[in-house]
Amino acid sequence: MTMHPALAVCAAGMLLVSCGSGHDSGTPLYKDPSQPVEKRVDDLLSRMTLDEKIGQLNQRSSWGGESATGYFSKEIEAGNIGSLLNVDPVSADSLQRVAVEKSRLGIPVLLSRDVIHGYRTIFPIPLGQAATFDTALVAQGARIAAVEASADGIRWTFSPMIDISRDARWGRIAESFGEDVWLTRQMGRAMVRGYQGDAGNDSTSMAACAKHFVGYGASESGRDYNSTFIPERQLREVYLAPFEDVCREGAMTYMSSFNDNDGIPASGNRHVLTDILRGEWGFDGFVVSDWASVAEMINHGYCADRKDAARTGFNAGVDMEMESGTYIENMKALIDEGAVKMDDIDRSVASVLRIKFLLGLFDNPYITTPQDVLYAPEHLAAARQAAAESAILLKNADETLPLKEGMTILLTGPMADAPHDQMGTWVFDGQKDHTVTLLDAFKDQWGGRVKVIYEPGLAYSRDTETSGIDCAVAAARGADAIVAVVGEEAILSGEAHSMADLNLVGAQSELIGRLAKTGKPLVTVVMAGRPLTIGKEVEESDAVLYSFHPGTMGGPALADILMGEISPSGRTPVTFAKTVGQLPMYYSHKNTGRPAAGTEVLIDDIELEAGQTSLGCTSFWLDAGFGPLFPFGYGLTYGDFRYSNVKTDKNAYGKDDTIHASAVLTNSGKREATEVVQLYVRDLVGSVTRPVKELKEFRRVTLAPGESVTVDFDLPVSELAFYGQDMQRNVEAGEFTLGIGPDSDTELSCSFTVK
Ligand code: NOJ
Repeated sequence: MTMHPALAVCAAGMLLVSCGSGHDSGTPLYKDPSQPVEKRVDDLLSRMTLDEKIGQLNQRSSWGGESATGYFSKEIEAGNIGSLLNVDPVSADSLQRVAVEKSRLGIPVLLSRDVIHGYRTIFPIPLGQAATFDTALVAQGARIAAVEASADGIRWTFSPMIDISRDARWGRIAESFGEDVWLTRQMGRAMVRGYQGDAGNDSTSMAACAKHFVGYGASESGRDYNSTFIPERQLREVYLAPFEDVCREGAMTYMSSFNDNDGIPASGNRHVLTDILRGEWGFDGFVVSDWASVAEMINHGYCADRKDAARTGFNAGVDMEMESGTYIENMKALIDEGAVKMDDIDRSVASVLRIKFLLGLFDNPYITTPQDVLYAPEHLAAARQAAAESAILLKNADETLPLKEGMTILLTGPMADAPHDQMGTWVFDGQKDHTVTLLDAFKDQWGGRVKVIYEPGLAYSRDTETSGIDCAVAAARGADAIVAVVGEEAILSGEAHSMADLNLVGAQSELIGRLAKTGKPLVTVVMAGRPLTIGKEVEESDAVLYSFHPGTMGGPALADILMGEISPSGRTPVTFAKTVGQLPMYYSHKNTGRPAAGTEVLIDDIELEAGQTSLGCTSFWLDAGFGPLFPFGYGLTYGDFRYSNVKTDKNAYGKDDTIHASAVLTNSGKREATEVVQLYVRDLVGSVTRPVKELKEFRRVTLAPGESVTVDFDLPVSELAFYGQDMQRNVEAGEFTLGIGPDSDTELSCSFTVK
């Protein structure tokens, strides 16, 4: 899928769609589809009153199903609303009709919604989609979401969420692509491509919204909405990098975040919203505030009152205000007082109108996508593939998996048949009666080939009533293997759902412990919104399959893996900590002056009255060591992949060169499997310290048993650039090391220099 030039809203500027000559003099120019977009914007702007302009910058939520004849209908008719979110689908077209046919200038209203990982057909949560390391599949999922959402009139989604997330306490890690800059950059671009589609005036294209701009993922202590303290260099290199990428991809809108960074609330941060986004990157779409985040600058202690908040937010670069209404209340007075400039109002309004034109809303305002796209078979098939590719095999002792046909399997655990919770966070429109659970899949798809005993043990993840565990343990006696599906209900992750403890909730740990004691092969499947601290359960289980809430088709996808129809191929998109006290934790950390040597003495081995310096002085935790439970990029398959002959084509490169790196990959196992091959680099010495490793490329490679291929990567040297001491982004000459392997523990065995 390639981006249609009409969607370019960054650097290259807006495409002027010009298909014809002049226009009928009786029709206003802006209504003439043959005119270039910029001319249409200018013409419309010149006809608008100040009230109508301010109305375009006002977004309201119609949650609660206000009808077309209600309050919003009147406000739209008066030209006071530019965009609505959360519209009841039954009123979508009738509200649009009011905007187009009853308002003075007929400006369509932009209907928006949080379509985060699917609309009706629910895909794995974004963290799970990141685990696929499959950008084409992620783009396809976003395209499907756009097609389905457009059937209900939604043409703007608040996605992708590209906040780098390194602390699993933060509930919104579920909505992110995890900890890594490179992976998030690729996934963010893929989603933007998918949502926005091939053509600006395709009636299934949906404007993307890159959020949350910026730094929200670094909330102190993982508590949602908390403050962040990100220095400029790290802001640019880690948190801003994915946002710059999606700008290049043509993301039409951005959302300013809730957090204050280093004392400045994101919705009042002119440096980020204007100097960087518009000035440095050339963005020409529009910025919407997060929900009431303009008014919340009063709570932050940054603005004195609602008028001050409107002035601060608008002048910083928030074009459209979501929900809090301070613009519509105060903008006229602010202009009269000279606190807001009319030119800036015109630029903001033009950027909103531009997106409406590019989406084709002026020419094709009503729903044309038929309802039968919802849950279309091909959408369900793609969701099933995404769920399968997102599942991560963390442990498989003695080839416990795959299970064998003819076995009697005890299926237990509160997530084995949890149609609502399996869909995960941010599901407004997915319906649980369309969800296929693991129990459904075992019964319907595998019923003739395995015997399944179902004994849930616990009713839901937080359940502490343990009498059901006795039944599950008793049932295990008659089984050849146990599949225990545990994890988190959907409500335990997502916005405002942070946790201070990441162990399994309720009595789930007891369930696993008691099942382990039966001596039957124990396969633990975890369905959760974040990486949980499951070290104990991993020890107790023979195999562990991790599935970030897998969505509508999670059941059949996981059954296919458990039964060996498909080899698992998901990889951890985020480091799994052993204990919550290690957080935030990520692989691309700095080395420090005293890196752990791996020989550290841990708490249980310390001698009595040991001397103060007897343990050495390196950077580690006495009670947790240094490393994680599972590193970033980790995941097993049913194959057996070996890497050899890792090399670069040269020993030295110029700054404009491309590094050709390769490795020979062999599947020495007995089954066809897919490996996610990963390339990591380290810059050994810099004008500022550099991470110990950085992912710079990845590829999914499927090999038959015994098959061997050379996997090649082309890495432009320019990708090694970083913000040096002078805060300029440059590649610094010097020594680098590179490695190609299965995860972020890969040894960087090749050396090269950049001159
Ligand atoms: C608040 C959330 O932070 C944001 O992600 C979402 O898009 C808006 N609310 C709209 O629902």
